Parts: sequence; structure tokens; C-alpha cells
Amino acid sequence: MLPVHCCQFLLFNVCVNISTLFIYFVYYSDLLSTAYYQEIKHEYDFIIVGSGTAGSVIAHRLATETNYTFIVVEAGIRSHALLEAPVLGPFFHGSLLDWQYQTVPQEHACFAMKDRRCKLAQGKILGGSSKLNNMIHVRGNLTHYQNWFHGKYAKEYIQKQFEYIENNILHLNEVQYESELANTILTAAKELGYSNLDKDFKLGFRKNIVSQKYGKRWSTSDNLESKHVITNVLVEKVIFNDNTARGIQVLSLGKHSTIYARKGVLLSAGAINTPKILQLSGIGPENLLKSLSIPVIKNLPVGRNLQDHIGTGLDFLLFNKSVSISALDMINPFHVLEYFIKGKGPWTTPGCEVIGFLSTKNQSEPDLQFMVLPVGLSSDRGSLLKNNVNLKDEIWDKYFSKSFDSYVGTILPLILHPKSRGYVIINSTDPSLPPLLDPRYLSHKDDRDTLINGLKLVMKFVNTEAIQKVGGSINENHFPSCENFEIFTDSYFDCYIKHLTLTSYHPVGTCSMGLPDSKNTVVDTSFKILGVEHLYVADASVLPTLPSGNINAAIAMMASICFESIINAKTNIPFCNKNDRIYEYLFRICFDS
Ligand SMILES: Cc1cc2nc3c(=O)[nH]c(=O)nc-3n(C[C@H](O)[C@H](O)[C@H](O)COP(=O)(O)OP(=O)(O)OC[C@H]3O[C@@H](n4cnc5c(N)ncnc54)[C@H](O)[C@@H]3O)c2cc1C
Ligand SMILES: *[C@@H]1O[C@H](CO)[C@@H](O)[C@H](O)[C@H]1NC(C)=O
Ligand SMILES: *[C@@H]1O[C@H](CO)[C@@H](O)[C@H](O)[C@H]1NC(C)=O
Ligand SMILES: *[C@@H]1O[C@H](CO)[C@@H](O)[C@H](O)[C@H]1NC(C)=O
Ligand SMILES: *[C@@H]1O[C@H](CO)[C@@H](O)[C@H](O)[C@H]1NC(C)=O
Ligand SMILES: *[C@@H]1O[C@H](CO)[C@@H](O)[C@H](O)[C@H]1NC(C)=O
Repeated sequence: MLPVHCCQFLLFNVCVNISTLFIYFVYYSDLLSTAYYQEIKHEYDFIIVGSGTAGSVIAHRLATETNYTFIVVEAGIRSHALLEAPVLGPFFHGSLLDWQYQTVPQEHACFAMKDRRCKLAQGKILGGSSKLNNMIHVRGNLTHYQNWFHGKYAKEYIQKQFEYIENNILHLNEVQYESELANTILTAAKELGYSNLDKDFKLGFRKNIVSQKYGKRWSTSDNLESKHVITNVLVEKVIFNDNTARGIQVLSLGKHSTIYARKGVLLSAGAINTPKILQLSGIGPENLLKSLSIPVIKNLPVGRNLQDHIGTGLDFLLFNKSVSISALDMINPFHVLEYFIKGKGPWTTPGCEVIGFLSTKNQSEPDLQFMVLPVGLSSDRGSLLKNNVNLKDEIWDKYFSKSFDSYVGTILPLILHPKSRGYVIINSTDPSLPPLLDPRYLSHKDDRDTLINGLKLVMKFVNTEAIQKVGGSINENHFPSCENFEIFTDSYFDCYIKHLTLTSYHPVGTCSMGLPDSKNTVVDTSFKILGVEHLYVADASVLPTLPSGNINAAIAMMASICFESIINAKTNIPFCNKNDRIYEYLFRICFDS
């Protein structure tokens, strides 16, 4: 490292340490206040497990539209206003605010990561993963959601749910600060014939719409009154009376207790933790439960069908002048003040300014997403992002640190509809231990082909006049361990993506919604777990496939439908289409007695 890079590294490291210290401070203050002030009642009408994107939508609607009593039970702590600055998101990875999950060693992916394990951050804080995310709001293709419900709802009904979320729960805004890269990419997209995306979903590009209020991160949980939430309470399992869920067993400050629910338990613990809680409770694959001597309540494919939006391409784009955000911009005191006073400037950056939807097969429906980041892995000189993705030191030294003299940018190509499937399973009955997480990234050859074609599209972008004009070029260093392949050939790219495999943190599918007789179904189209009463799932785990786009909005939309279908069914009759007569008869759904 040159002295200047070394100074930068030290400076960024100071920032990382300050933020770590601050997180400790917030964490232990919340723990103390929980110990002294938090009161837990014996019984409620509804219990919601997890205060993330989905749990908070349901809680908000319960609080504002019904007189039911309920409690949201959260394992993490309450957030703090100073932690809501968008720029701080990456600092939470691997901290006390993250479940710190890692995959098992991967067979086809993550070769550039330590032990071939990719990290998969998931929020452990009031607000869940939406307190770590990039705040990007995308509706996706409504037809896909209609298919999840097998035609139970009309498109207008789903659209109404999005409108409700967008107008009543989130605060949607344009990105408050952007680098030169944003407009450059949009010009390049135009040059290649892509249109501007509007609200309707099609192929094309646009600047992001983000969930921020006055430049500050805004999550679905930010509407909740604190009396409805208890924090630092780990839900260990669901308690049953025969086949009916009666409540939950929790651990708080070292003490076990039980909380009862008169009407139902809703699991919204996310795509990794919801299947874990279910398996610990005796709902899951029979073989697994028996091998751990857990009494079987119901044999269901819980934990199967795990999918994620996988990509690659960090630091694939180099510039000979700064068009992106430099890490130094971030720590400039003027910019810090700008954020706190005006809610603008680099501190509001969501980390991704532009998104695009493309087809690698020249079709009208996208199979690839671009996320354009004004930074790369090497931007912080190795003080933070390198650990967030679990990168091996030797890869850092041989590849990423070689870009210190250029300015890096990133176009991440992501597979929208991967065919690889993995699983989440517990391997112990101890609720404090993490489950085994095997997403089997890139195990399906079609996924690798899509991603390789995605990289070729990135190269096409770099060759546009717009990007050439600002001195853009492709990173021509050979990726370590791929030196035997001729650079930028298919076999080189195949090696590259198997090494530099990146998640966009969108795990879904582990408690899939579907028809009762299909092989992955865990919940019916009313969010009820098959074969048990009073137990529902509403979070990323019920999504049976991945949407075309970032998933937070789709999860919020699903949670809103869940509320209407199980809690407020009587006052809010779903918008049914004509297939519903048959449907109603078969699955007793859409009843309005
Ligand atoms: C780094 C990152 C960036 C992302 N960027 C974007 C983006 O820009 N746009 C987008 O649309 N999506 C994005 N996502 C995805 C999106 O934020 C998540 O998919 C979404 O928040 C998941 O919502 P959820 O309700 O399923 O679960 P979560 O929001 O993860 O909530 C689950 C909650 O349950 C709690 N919990 C879990 N287990 C227990 C237990 N045993 N007891 C008590 N509580 C428990 C957790 O602590 C957590 O608060 C991103 C995600 C990450 C991690
Ligand atoms: C809630 O209770 C209040 C007062 O008893 C009543 O006026 C209101 O109609 C109730 N709301 C619902 C949705 O039941
Ligand atoms: C939305 O999805 C449906 C079903 O896959 C597809 O037919 C349609 O073309 C998609 N629309 C767009 C705009 O991609
Ligand atoms: C893509 O499809 C269009 C029309 O369907 C055709 O005109 C064009 O040549 C195709 N392009 C490629 C690269 O195959
Ligand atoms: C569960 O898996 C973890 C991670 O692979 C391992 O360390 C642990 O020993 C396993 N526990 C059991 C009981 O098999
Ligand atoms: C950057 O690259 C462009 C295009 O390749 C070139 O015209 C320009 O002179 C370069 N600028 C510098 C400072 O090297």
C-alpha cells in the first residue's frame, strides 16, 4: 500500500471502530432498559414473532384498524436515531445488529470467500433487515404475485395493497444524493435502446425510489408505538395444544417464559429464522425432526426451496477519474452536517443509485437486474466491505487492492429467477444456535449461464460512448485462480462467478405458499400453516419464487394481504375473481360469513 492508501485505511478504520463502539453503547443501553422497564403480559389476542418488514406491517394494521390486543416479540434491540443514517447500513453487517449467518461451504460458488462460505446478513433489530437494507423500493411484476395466490386475487387488489403500503406506511422519495455515475449509466442505457422505467414493470432503467424521510432511513417498523413491541426477547418455539398453536416459549435476559395467544401466532422472523422456529416446534421434515428427537406436530417441507438473487461483478468497472462516491466524501465533516441539518448529501446514499431490468435472451420479460453502485469493494481500502463479504485475504491482495490507483464503480448483474434451490435446517435442538444454511448458489447450470451473459451485458455497457467519455474501462486484471482461462471468455467468466459470488440478501421460499398438494407447500394461500390451527407465516419465507426486483415491497404487500385474510377477513372482503367459487369450495378461502 502507498502511504496515501495507508492513511485512508487508518482513517476509515477509525470510523469503523467508532461505529462499532456506538453500536455497543446502543445495544447495552437497550438491554438495561429492557431489564428495568419491560413488562410482558401473560396473554394477548395475537402474537407477532419478529418486527421486520412483514411483522411491522401487520402490527401497524392491527393497531390502527382493530381493537385486538397484540404484541410484537423481537430478539434484537430498539434502534437509535443516529443509526438511521443510510450511509451506516454496511457498518451493521457482522455487528450485534446482525444474526451473522454464513452459508455452509459452497460447491459451485463463494470460492473467493473464506472457507467457501458466503455471509448472509439479516437484521436483528427492531425493523429487521429493513434496518440494514439499501431501501430500494420496487413493486415488481404483479402477474407473478397473482400466480402465488393461484388466481385468488385480481391485479387491482394487489395493486391496492402496494398503494396502501406506499401511502400509509413507507415514505418514498428520490435518492437525495447521486454521483456522476448515475446519469452516465442512464445515458448509456439510452444509447443501447433501453427505455426509462416507470411504475409499470418492464425492461429498462431508472434512478431508485427509496424509503427515506428527510434523508433518513424509514422502515415499516417506524410507525409502531413502543407499547406494542418487546425487544431482547428470543422466541424459541411455538407451544401447541394438539394441533392448535397456543402461544410461544421465549427467552429474555436468561429467563424462560410463555406468552399465550387467544387467536393466533404469526411468524414474521424472516426466511432463515421462521423455518428454524418451526422446526424447533415440531413442524418440518419428519426425518429431520425424528433425528433430533423433536416430537412431530406436522410433517411439512419447512426450510426447503431456499432461493436468493445472486450476482457478481464488484470492482469490475474502473474509471480514470472520480465519477463515483469516494469514501473520503463520506467522512468529510461538511457532508456529515449536511445530513443532520438538511437531510441531504452523501450520507443519504442508499449505496445503489440506479437499477435496470434486462433480458439476457432478447425477450420482453427480464431475467436479469442491474444494480449500479457508486462504490466498489476496494473503495474503503479494506476496512469494512471486505469483511462484509467474507473475502479471503489473498484475493484481496492479488486483485482488489490492485485497483487502489483507479476509481472503481460497480454494475452488479443479478439473476432474477434463479433455478438453484437450497435449504435451511437446524442441526441441534438448542434455539441459541444458528441453523445450517445451504443456498446451493449457482448449483443449476442455467443460473451460471444467465450470470455469464449478464457480465457480457455489463461489458456492452462499458463500451458505450457515455461510459467511455468518462474514462470507464473493464478491470483487466485476471481474477486469482482464473489465470488459466483466457480473459473474458465464457470459461473465464464461469470461473469468475464461482469465485466472486455475491448475494443481494434476498433469501425467500423456506415456508412456501401454494396449493395443499404441491411438494413445497408449507402455508396455504391464506398464510395458514397446513394441518395446524392458529399458526400463520407472513414474511420472506412464504414467497414461493423470487419477484422481478428487490423484495422488500413485495414482502410488505404480502403482509398486508395476510392481515386482511386472517385478521380482518370479516370487514374487508377480498377482491375475488370468478375462479373463486371453485376455489372457495375446494379450499374454504374467501368466505365472508
Ligand atoms: C443488506 C441488505 C440489503 C437489502 N437491500 C434491499 C433493498 O434495497 N431493497 C429491497 O427491497 N430489499 C432489500 N433487502 C431485503 C429486505 O430488506 C428483506 O428481504 C426484508 O426486510 C425481509 O423482511 P422480513 O419481514 O421477511 O424479515 P426481517 O425484516 O429480516 O425481520 C425478521 C425479524 O424477526 C426477528 N427475529 C428473528 N428470529 C427471531 C426470534 N427467534 N425471536 C424473536 N425475533 C426474531 C429478527 O430480529 C428481525 O427483526 C436487503 C436486505 C439486506 C440484509
Ligand atoms: C373499537 O372500540 C371502539 C370503542 O369501543 C369502537 O367504537 C370501535 O368501533 C371499535 N373498532 C373496531 C374496528 O372494532
Ligand atoms: C409479467 O409476468 C408475466 C408472467 O410471467 C409475463 O407474461 C409478463 O410479460 C411480465 N410482464 C413484464 C412487463 O415483464
Ligand atoms: C432481438 O429481437 C429483435 C426482435 O424480436 C430482433 O430484431 C433483434 O435482432 C434481436 N437481437 C438479437 C441480438 O438477437
Ligand atoms: C451443526 O453444524 C455446525 C456448523 O456446521 C457444526 O459446527 C456443529 O458441530 C453441528 N452440530 C451438530 C450437533 O451436528
Ligand atoms: C481518461 O480516459 C479517457 C478515455 O479513455 C481519456 O480520453 C482521458 O485522457 C483519460 N484521462 C486521464 C486523466 O487519464
